[in-house]
Amino acid sequence: MIKHLKVLERNAQDARLFLEKSNALNEDFLPIKKEGYILWPLNFEVKGEIVVCEGVESKRNSRDYRQLLPSEIRGLAPRSFDIFGDIGIIRISDECLEYSKIIAKALLESHLNLKKVAIDKGVKGEYRIRQLQMIMGEPGFVSVHRENGFEFKLDISKVYFSPRLSMERSRIYEMSESREEVLDAFAGVCPFSVSLASKGCKVTAVDSNPDSEFWAHENFRRNKILKSSYDFLCSKIEEVLPELKFYDRIIMNSPTTSLNYLQLISSKLNVGGVIHLYTIIENDINLRIGDYLPSNFSCVFERVVHPYSPSSSLVVFDIVKVKNNVQKTNQ
Ligand SMILES: C[S@@+](CC[C@H](N)C(=O)[O-])C[C@H]1O[C@@H](n2cnc3c(N)ncnc32)[C@H](O)[C@@H]1O
Repeated sequence: MIKHLKVLERNAQDARLFLEKSNALNEDFLPIKKEGYILWPLNFEVKGEIVVCEGVESKRNSRDYRQLLPSEIRGLAPRSFDIFGDIGIIRISDECLEYSKIIAKALLESHLNLKKVAIDKGVKGEYRIRQLQMIMGEPGFVSVHRENGFEFKLDISKVYFSPRLSMERSRIYEMSESREEVLDAFAGVCPFSVSLASKGCKVTAVDSNPDSEFWAHENFRRNKILKSSYDFLCSKIEEVLPELKFYDRIIMNSPTTSLNYLQLISSKLNVGGVIHLYTIIENDINLRIGDYLPSNFSCVFERVVHPYSPSSSLVVFDIVKVKNNVQKTNQ
């Protein structure tokens, strides 16, 4: 069973172009025509009506790079991988490591937009940096990634960036309104901040990694965001928070730690404002976000963004502040 985007037949070609551009179109499968609609097969969920059903495997000219592999390796090689700019990023099991160059070559031959392939050995440390090993292509991890009409240039071996969050960035862009005050508390190279500033929001972006600061300024500039629309503070959020103002929207995308900061950072939310909190949850745990907040906060939306490991998922919670706490007195 795979996820499909359901669109009216008359919108099918626009949808295909959008999905191809964002690398969301799963070209191992064919589109399905059904009662005036087209179901486009997906690599990952995008915004719109999603239908989960049996995919129709494409027999012709598939871009499944594994078809170029010798049969003894094909079954071991991963089906999915990430694309950051012109770099293919792939996770390889230990038993498959000895075939990594053959796998990389097949990937480059089947995806002409890729120039390099690197192995992803996981994300580590306070700065959430991906441990990468280049296995094919020129050395160097700087590339330009295009997403939702924006461009992000960065060195993916020195800062955090995930192409898998494009739908979340688009969702929050759609929800936001110009002139909102926004705090991007763990901003990285500012993919959320750039898109919201482009809509006329006034953004305060905070990240503790000095390399994030360097690339964030590059990305505001590349996307023609005026300096008056944003501040970037290179600091730990807990150190600058007391001097910050109050915000209409707060983005907390530090999935391994954000729950620990929720109480503290929520103190800077305006009444009627919203927090987008990203956190990793074990699949068999039913997290009650209300347990982490005072009673005047309410969770109005939650969804799984993508699987994180076989037993856990990245989940987003949208949390609103409904009214001010009324102080009880004994008079
Ligand atoms: C998962 S990344 C998210 C980056 C960005 N929001 C994005 O979507 O690409 C978390 C970021 O938080 C930063 N970070 C970690 N601890 C921090 C802290 N205490 N204060 C501010 N930033 C922090 C890291 O450097 C990293 O860039």
